[in-house]
Amino acid sequence: MRSEDFGKDFLWGIATAATQIEGAVNSYGKGPSIWDVFAKRHGKIKNGHRPEFACDFYHQYKSDIALVKALGFKVFRFSISWSRILPLGKGKINQEGIDFYHRVIDECLLNGIIPFVTLYHWDLPENLSKNGGWSAYSINADFNEFVILCAKTYGNKVKNWIVLNEPFGFTSLGYMLGVHAPGETGLTNFFAAAQHAAIAQADGGRILRAEVTNANIGTTFSCSEVIPYTESDADIIAAKRVDCLMNRFFIEPTLGLGFPTADWDVLEKFAISHSTWRHKERMTFDFDFIGLQNYFPLTVKFNAFIPVIQAWEVKAKSRKKPHTKMGWEINAESFYNIIKQFASYPNVKEIFITENGAAFNDKLKDGKVQDEERIEYFKLYLSAMLKAKNEGINITGYMAWTLMDNFEWAEGYNARFGLIYNDFKTQVRTVKQSGYWWKEFLTVLN
Ligand code: NOJ
Repeated sequence: MRSEDFGKDFLWGIATAATQIEGAVNSYGKGPSIWDVFAKRHGKIKNGHRPEFACDFYHQYKSDIALVKALGFKVFRFSISWSRILPLGKGKINQEGIDFYHRVIDECLLNGIIPFVTLYHWDLPENLSKNGGWSAYSINADFNEFVILCAKTYGNKVKNWIVLNEPFGFTSLGYMLGVHAPGETGLTNFFAAAQHAAIAQADGGRILRAEVTNANIGTTFSCSEVIPYTESDADIIAAKRVDCLMNRFFIEPTLGLGFPTADWDVLEKFAISHSTWRHKERMTFDFDFIGLQNYFPLTVKFNAFIPVIQAWEVKAKSRKKPHTKMGWEINAESFYNIIKQFASYPNVKEIFITENGAAFNDKLKDGKVQDEERIEYFKLYLSAMLKAKNEGINITGYMAWTLMDNFEWAEGYNARFGLIYNDFKTQVRTVKQSGYWWKEFLTVLN
């Protein structure tokens, strides 16, 4: 497999997110985000880590963008921290924050790198969380104010936009399970947050379409093939429920299909209790591309004791399957399968893999990080993607997760996903073997 096999127009990129890399969370006029506050709560983040300094990208963006270029990537994906440009989430603008993203964008353009900007990568302004955050209907007007500001400010330079990063991720982890910021729990919060996120996603698309000429507009979804543990009816039906929740629940309203209530009656019950649920049209938008983010498949088994979903994941480790440091199963065939599943919707026109990668137990030794496992991982996953592409699926780009080891949410700095090793004490970056592998892989295109 060579990079040319994907075609000369295929876009290769690397993805990041503001909270995970920027640092400078209390400086230059930035307001607090839910992650700044959540990280201070005891026991929420492993080892009590906080995003305060992260990778110090705020100050090192020039050399970091130089690294993006040196590794041969054409696309740099980063997100705008909402509370850096609107410290209270709405109203007064922080000019220093606005200028920072101008500098980042200009640096990309200067280096011939295409900026892909994510509008929302999980860092809600804390001030908006006080009113319920994503579970409150008012979030939609506030989000639109933020999108209008971004589109008007950067729209003449940035043409590639991603509205939301993994709505299932931030609504389920942050509003149902409470393991991510803002730490809310319960199905009522989750379903409300999910509906507002679905509306925000489509509203965001419409705003960008109106404000930015020649915009290429996408949004991203987490996706995982859901595999029944056995061929029993109970396991097969349990797997269908999980598929409804994890894969179909967000893409289908976006495509105008509404929520997949027919295949899971619980959704129907919530549909009736929420008025916004019926806002099928407002949740629909014709995105130019659908961003898919894949990290693992899920093998599930029926379990009557698990409320509502009645399914239980049988972990890779207990099935003796290869897995990453996160315990996530390495299974490139499932990547191929889930790409095919999402591509089977007739109105998904274009697929961009906006995240894929793995954390391993990387060690810096004699100035080197020999992460052969990661290289192997990318080879397998890229081959699976090529197979799907060769079968006619319109996949136009791929972004590896991620440029450098960073703040991995509730895992703190313990999970290293980067192609570049970061020493968080000194902020010295060391390109891992996998980074060199990518450089070599992309050489012919540069
Ligand atoms: C998806 C998220 O978008 C990203 O922020 C995170 O670091 C990766 N998954 C790995 O967990």
